[in-house]
Amino acid sequence: MPANPTVLTSKPEWQTLKDHRERLDGVPMKELFSRDPGRARRYFIEGAGLSLDFSKNRLTDEVLDALLALASSCNLEARRESLLKGERVNVTENRPALHTALRNPGTEAILVDGQDVVAEVQRTLARMATLVDGVLSSNRTGYTGKPFTDVVSIGIGGSYLGPKLVSEALKPYGESGVRCHYVANIDGTEICETLRRVSPETTLFLIQSKSFRTQETLENSKVARQWFLEHCGDEQAVSRHFMAVTANVPAARDFGIDPDNVFPMWDWVGGRYSLWSAIGLPIAFTVGMTNFRALLAGAHAMDQHFQQAPLHRNLPVVMAMLGVWYNNFWGAETHAILPYDHYLRSLPDHLQQLDMESNGKSVTQGGEPLAWQSGPVIWGGVGANGQHAYHQLIHQGTRLIPADFIIPLQTHNPVANHHADLFANCLSQSRAMMAGKSLDEARAELAAEGCTEAEIAQLAPHKVIPGNKPSNTLTMEKVTPETVGALIALYEHRTFVQGVIWDVDSFDQWGVELGKQLGKGILPRLLGEEAGSQTSDSSTDYLIERFRSAGGA
Ligand code: F6P
Repeated sequence: MPANPTVLTSKPEWQTLKDHRERLDGVPMKELFSRDPGRARRYFIEGAGLSLDFSKNRLTDEVLDALLALASSCNLEARRESLLKGERVNVTENRPALHTALRNPGTEAILVDGQDVVAEVQRTLARMATLVDGVLSSNRTGYTGKPFTDVVSIGIGGSYLGPKLVSEALKPYGESGVRCHYVANIDGTEICETLRRVSPETTLFLIQSKSFRTQETLENSKVARQWFLEHCGDEQAVSRHFMAVTANVPAARDFGIDPDNVFPMWDWVGGRYSLWSAIGLPIAFTVGMTNFRALLAGAHAMDQHFQQAPLHRNLPVVMAMLGVWYNNFWGAETHAILPYDHYLRSLPDHLQQLDMESNGKSVTQGGEPLAWQSGPVIWGGVGANGQHAYHQLIHQGTRLIPADFIIPLQTHNPVANHHADLFANCLSQSRAMMAGKSLDEARAELAAEGCTEAEIAQLAPHKVIPGNKPSNTLTMEKVTPETVGALIALYEHRTFVQGVIWDVDSFDQWGVELGKQLGKGILPRLLGEEAGSQTSDSSTDYLIERFRSAGGA
C-alpha cells in the first residue's frame, strides 16, 4: 500500500484548505488579533520544556482543523507509530529510522533484524562514559603521559553539524571539558589551521563517518595521522590518539584504528539524525556525560510529546502543518530560522541539512513525480545580527518568508540590559512582520516630522511595510542540555511530519551521490593523471584547463 493512498491534491481536505486560503486572502492578521482578544493564549502550546506562540500566523480555528484533518488523512498517526516502533520507514534503503531509540531510556526492546537496539545503545553509552570520564579525569592520557586538552573531530554533514551546534550551545556547561575543534571541509585550510592550534601530545582525533567512505573525512584524517606521526614518530602511539565512530568497522581498521577504539553507528540511524549516538562524543567531551544524558532526556521528552499530545497541542505537528500551509497554499519558497541566542548560532546550519536533505525530494515513496512542492529552502542566522542584513527583504521584499523566532527567557550571561534588549529586538521583528505599517501611518509619521506634502507623496510608499508576514515564536526558560535536546528533536519530528504529508522518503539522500560520483572522474583530470572525458561538457573542460594552467594542484 502506498504511504499516502489518495493523491495528496485530490483529497477533499486539500480542496478545503484551498478554499480557506482564498477566504483568508484579504484578511490581515492584525484584524484577526483585533477580532479575538484571546488569540495569543489560544494559539500557545507547550511541550518538553518548550513553548510555541503561533498566533502570528494566517490562521483561524477552521484552518487549523483543516490542516490537522489533512495530516490525519495522510495517516500521520499510523506513520508516527511506524517510525517509533522501528518499521522500515526508509523505503528506498529498506531501513528503520530509529534516532528516537538513541535517547530512549527505557528497557523495552526494539528489535531490528533480531537485535535489540535499545540494549545496544545502552552498551555504547556505557563505553562512551568510560572514554569520556577517562579523558576528563586525566586517567586516560596521550603518548607522553600528558592529559588530553583538545579533541579534533573530523567529519562532515550529519557527522559534524549536530555535534558542532550542540557543543557550542552548551558552552556554559563545559567548564571541565576539553576543547573541541571541528574539521569538515576538504579545503586544506581547515585542517592546517586546526593542527596549528593543537599539540600532538595532548590531542585526541575522532574520525566521525558512518560510511567511512566520505572523501573529505578520509583525506583530512590522513593528513591528521601523518602530522601526528611526524611529531611523535611512533606508530604504536596512533592507537592512543585516534578513535573512530562508524558503521564500517573493517574500513576503520584498514585505516589503522584499533578496533577497541571504534564506536558503533548503525544503518538504522541517518547521518543527519546521529548526534544522539557516539557521533555526539565531541559534545560529551565538551560538557561531560551527565550533560550528554540530559540532552538525550530532553530529546526523549519531545519524542513522548510528539507521540502522545493531541495533534492540535502537538508542537512538531502544528509547526509542520503551518509549514505545509505556507509552502503548498501560499507559495512560500523558503523558511527562516532565527535564533535570538548566541549559543544557538549554528542551529540554522544544522536544520538546513536536517530539513533539506530529508525533504528535498521530487518523487513520492512509490516513485511517482510529485505534483506539489516538497521541502522549502531553509536558511537563517542569529538575531539581532540578521536584522541588519536580510530582515529588510523579509519586511519589504516581494516574497513571503515565514520565520521561526527562537529565544530563551533567561540568559546565561546577564550584562546590563542586554537580554531585555535582545528580547525587545526579537518581539519587534515578529510584531513588525505581522502588523507592518500602512500608507496612512507612513504619511502621518512623515507629517509629524514636518515633511511637505510633496515630500510625503514621494517618501510614503517607500515607508509602507506590508505586514501580514507569518512567524512562530519558540521560547524556553534557558538554553540547557534538556531544552537544546527538545528543540532539535522538535525539528526532527517537524521534518518527519512534512515528509509524511508530501509522501517522500525523508531518510534517503540519493541526490548527494551524483556530485560524489562525478568528483571521482574530475579529480584525476585536475591532477593531470587523465585526459579529457567523453561524458564531460565544454564548461567543465574549460574550467579544468584553467585550473591546470594556473598550476592549481
Ligand atoms: O551529505 C551526504 C551525507 O551522506 C550525509 O547524509 C552524511 O551526514 C554525510 O554525508 C557524512 O557521511 P558519513 O558520516 O558517512 O561520512
